[in-house]
Amino acid sequence: MQERLEALEREARAEVAAGRDLDTLKDLRVRYLGKKGELTQILRQMGALPVDQRPVVGKFANEVRDRLETLLAEREAELEAASRELRLTREGVDITLPGRYLPRGWKHPLLQVQQEIEDVFLGMGFTIAEGPEVEFDCFNFELLNIPRDHPARDMQDTFYLTDDILLRTHTSPVQIRHMRSVAPATPVKVIVPGRVYRRDAADATHSPIFHQVEGLVVDRGISMGDLKGTLLAFARQLYGPATQVRLRPSYFPFTEPSAEVDVSCSFCHGQGCRVCKGSGWLEILGSGMVHPVVLQNGGYDPEEVSGFAFGMGIERIAMLKYGVDDLRLFYQSDIRFLRQFEGV
Ligand code: DAH
Repeated sequence: MQERLEALEREARAEVAAGRDLDTLKDLRVRYLGKKGELTQILRQMGALPVDQRPVVGKFANEVRDRLETLLAEREAELEAASRELRLTREGVDITLPGRYLPRGWKHPLLQVQQEIEDVFLGMGFTIAEGPEVEFDCFNFELLNIPRDHPARDMQDTFYLTDDILLRTHTSPVQIRHMRSVAPATPVKVIVPGRVYRRDAADATHSPIFHQVEGLVVDRGISMGDLKGTLLAFARQLYGPATQVRLRPSYFPFTEPSAEVDVSCSFCHGQGCRVCKGSGWLEILGSGMVHPVVLQNGGYDPEEVSGFAFGMGIERIAMLKYGVDDLRLFYQSDIRFLRQFEGV
């Protein structure tokens, strides 16, 4: 019996040493040491031994069991260590490798300028309104006091989709839309950023698609002084605290009186330079007191309230702010141009 136990131990040792993975070791443990394992099978036959030999063989069997236990545990620990080692090598990161470059975008200069304009007016208590780019003739023209045969339509060559539907030529139709959505409540104090369309050939100062920001204020007792004060505060935030504004008489059908607004040239501070063409002034927007007919078309009583409005081209503001002399640069997606506005 002792010999069978020795044979069992030899066999088990050889197999454990050859075991290549933890599953195999588990199987071996069951086969040799389990409840129905080979060692147990041998011990079952102890009854056949003479009584005096039983304790000797029993002791030897226990020693064999202990040695095999130890052996299995050692081999298991070895395999576990090896597999951990392998995993660590596989998961290893070489922290000395250079990082992977993730290109990161930035805002287009026109969007930057638009948001800058919005921020200034939001800071003065304005809210932002929007309207459709495909617009009815009546909102784009007629309700703004520009009838069908009005010569002022020549100022804005229009893309018509049908006789009555067009691509808006300015953001002013949102004046009517917005007034109608809130009238007769006061005050009205909105700006309207948006894309507009004109049938112009592209050149350094024209594009068939461009962007405007419209402004509209309606309340009791609004005067031309409010217009000038608001636009002066705006210009100083955009171009610096020393900026001056001046109003020049002008004509728009939807305002009366109307004024063109100039700011002192931010490049030469009024001395005269290439950008302001020697005049010291830069024209930045059109404005005026909202025409009584327009107030009425918006649902307000011009006897009760008055208002001012203004409209500016975002491209123009951006060109004057950064000294860009060709508007087409904003649309050509030339990365060498755009990169100059990264983090501005
Ligand atoms: N809508 C005009 C244009 O596109 C700009 C403008 C001028 C808007 C005067 C106004 C304004 O609101 O009062 O040329």
